[in-house]
Amino acid sequence: MADDLNKGLEGVLVAESELSSIDGDAGRLIYRGYPIEDLARGASYEEVVYLLWHGHLPDEDELATFTESLNEERTVDEDVLETVKQLADAGEQPMAALRTATSMLSAYEPEGDADPDDFDATLRKGRRITAKIPTVLAAFERYRLGEEPVDPHPDLGLAANFLYMLTGEEPDDLAAETFDQALILHADHGLNASTFTSMVIGSTMADIYSAVTGGISALSGPLHGGANQDVMEVLMEIDESDLDHREWVEQANEEGRRIPGFGHRVYNVKDPRAKILEERSEELAADGEDKWYNYTTTIEQYLSEEQGLAEKGIAPNVDFYSGSVYYQLGIPIDMYTPIFAMSRASGWIAHVVEYQDDNRLIRPLSRYTGPEDQEFVSLEER
Ligand code: CMC
Repeated sequence: MADDLNKGLEGVLVAESELSSIDGDAGRLIYRGYPIEDLARGASYEEVVYLLWHGHLPDEDELATFTESLNEERTVDEDVLETVKQLADAGEQPMAALRTATSMLSAYEPEGDADPDDFDATLRKGRRITAKIPTVLAAFERYRLGEEPVDPHPDLGLAANFLYMLTGEEPDDLAAETFDQALILHADHGLNASTFTSMVIGSTMADIYSAVTGGISALSGPLHGGANQDVMEVLMEIDESDLDHREWVEQANEEGRRIPGFGHRVYNVKDPRAKILEERSEELAADGEDKWYNYTTTIEQYLSEEQGLAEKGIAPNVDFYSGSVYYQLGIPIDMYTPIFAMSRASGWIAHVVEYQDDNRLIRPLSRYTGPEDQEFVSLEER
């Protein structure tokens, strides 16, 4: 039995996977061997989901069939929408509403009785979850604005359709492409906390709804998916401050504030996803307001170079630039982390199926540091 304690499981190898790989020193990320840059620039989110789930990039027929089968599953049962409305009316946070709704979707799963080791059935369920999450999130936003949900648009891909259901208007090409890229960049990322959570749940041979609901829960925290919202809140704080944005960063640094969107357990250099999103943020800024992009680049330059964080291996992660990109797309700030979940669900599903295919219950150890040999005292005598 191992005596080494690996707090936070840092550096612990627990599974083999063909899905994605990160070279944290080179700043390289691949999905099934394809560089993330090539996928983000050349593929659609649907192609990437197909790649993750089926092991190869689809040809035109495969993509058409897959896209059609996803589009057919976008509608969400009225009962679930009613619950989503109640949650919106009660002022629930969208990430929590998504967690509740995803769990509830299982009640309307037509293959609810399928064996957990029927992986084709699990992938079909995964397809339903992936198709319905955007509908749930957009409906939540509409309800809290006091409006009715917008029906899915049959001719739009998953990314463009989400923006359409959110606003009721078809996005322009730049917005649709940018959002599609953002989904691709977030689809998978090795054994991050939420993926590992889903795998732990999947390793008990629990169903995929449980695994995805668990993934959403793990993703919600500020050390993981919650950081993208925190980044935008920091940028807004800068905007509202009396200080110039450069002075604001200096002061925050002097106060010892940890800036969200910086640092990563695996990357020692700038996250390749952040580089792509930075380009998109710059492009959107050229088209509209440039202050958000300027704030981020100032923070990055100050922390990385003047404060020497780059030398220490603390660099911008994916969340650093996604916030300003989503903001420029007009997406509400508290939807950023749910959007991360909307994309990452495909990765959770892929990892659960891959792991269950050669399953072993995940069951680590903790070192007991409590007292030994306590003498029990009955309740009446305590
Ligand atoms: N700003 C300044 N210093 C930092 C930061 C930061 N954002 N992040 C880490 N450090 C320093 C930290 O102070 C520590 O320094 P020292 O060794 O001198 O005490 C060192 O880096 C290691 O930090 P850690 O917290 O022990 O590292 P970790 O691997 O446990 O945590 C992390 C990784 C992502 C939780 C952390 O970098 C962090 O809190 N970042 C801000 C939140 C964030 O952006 N999260 C999103 C992560 S990427 C997307 C995702 O996976 O969801």
